[in-house]
Amino acid sequence: LRVLVLQGPNLNLIGSREPDFYGRETFDEINRKIKAKAQELGVEVKILQSNHEGDLVDAIQEARETADGIIINAGALTHYSYAVRDALTAVRLPTVEVHLSNIHAREEFRHRSVIAPVVMGQIVGLGSLGYLLALEAICQLIEQSHR
Ligand code: DQA
Repeated sequence: LRVLVLQGPNLNLIGSREPDFYGRETFDEINRKIKAKAQELGVEVKILQSNHEGDLVDAIQEARETADGIIINAGALTHYSYAVRDALTAVRLPTVEVHLSNIHAREEFRHRSVIAPVVMGQIVGLGSLGYLLALEAICQLIEQSHR
């Protein structure tokens, strides 16, 4: 199984950015945990971070050929990017949305995810554990979608 992990704007700054919300674990540390978990589960994982909406749209479109499932933390784009949403709708790969922080416990504008209606599920507020749980989930979702 091949899983694409997409990390949106400003996630490269995790560890130093707003530690009360996102913790002190760095982006590299989180990505290392994701890779270790992927190895344990026997899945191929590719992690891509971009601060640019179009890069994420391109990556989602390319995933049609190169991935079996997507895990996405779209950062602030979560709350307003219809382009990311439409790309996910177009590729129709099993997708899990992750947020490090509990978006529902924060500002009003973070309560709404415009991608939530087109993904299979959301994991929010559990820090980096969310990505690891999402990896476990996506494996099962991919297997079910192939049945
Ligand atoms: C985030 C939550 C978003 O509201 C925010 O813009 C981020 C990170 C999270 O992982 O908690 O950049 O997606």
